[in-house]
Amino acid sequence: MPSAIKPLIAGNWKMNGTSDDLSQLLGIARGVSAYSGSADTLICVPATLVDRASQSTLKTSLKIGGQDCHHKTAGAHTGDISAPMLKDAGAQAVIVGHSERRTDHDETDEIVRSKASAAHDTGLVAVICVGETQQERENGQAEDIVSGQIQGSIPDTTDHQNTVVAYEPVWAIGTGLVPTNNDILSMHAHIRNELKTGFGNDGEKIRILYGGSLKPSNAAEILAISEVNGGLIGGASLKSADFLSICDAVGQ
Ligand code: PGA
Repeated sequence: MPSAIKPLIAGNWKMNGTSDDLSQLLGIARGVSAYSGSADTLICVPATLVDRASQSTLKTSLKIGGQDCHHKTAGAHTGDISAPMLKDAGAQAVIVGHSERRTDHDETDEIVRSKASAAHDTGLVAVICVGETQQERENGQAEDIVSGQIQGSIPDTTDHQNTVVAYEPVWAIGTGLVPTNNDILSMHAHIRNELKTGFGNDGEKIRILYGGSLKPSNAAEILAISEVNGGLIGGASLKSADFLSICDAVGQ
């Protein structure tokens, strides 16, 4: 049975992109209008590009987001960026708790949760990332790890409009490795159950994205799996043709 949840195809440019790359973004913005009935689209650019990206895509259906925010709104935190700053620059969403930040910056579930709260308080959609490491999967702990991250990282202010959950197995990010369809199916069903337990009716409608080596060649297959409500795409979001061909795979 087709899901009633409108998919979200989201890109994460990570620490890639200068003004030269805005042409790729414009290509995406022009192309996604063809898919606006079947999927929402978002590109999370580096903070330095949020303002220009938002301005240049204003009249299109493509939304622009940031990749992280501080949990406080302002203060003595050199080099950090607050949710109100991202919003002021034109962002409509922000990724929090990406595994690269959990690893590189020692972000705990508690920190991720406070960042997601800051996003909610500011009116930004929080894209909250969860996912197990290779070792945790091999040890049979994947579901428990993801449950702990969901319970620890998703704030009480969550509803189906202000929050998206992205399941990104750490070992699949940027590696070309992907879980089997069955593993994706059972993890997304598990996450759906956690969300229903935590958030009732909203938990049935919160979008659950799959992320990790999602690309044009595997998109149709992965996006068709039950409870996969879209994707979070790193490498393949940097080129407009790749991102658009993933959008094209929605509903195939
Ligand atoms: P990838 O990254 O598509 O390059 O594997 C996904 C992500 O980290 O969001």
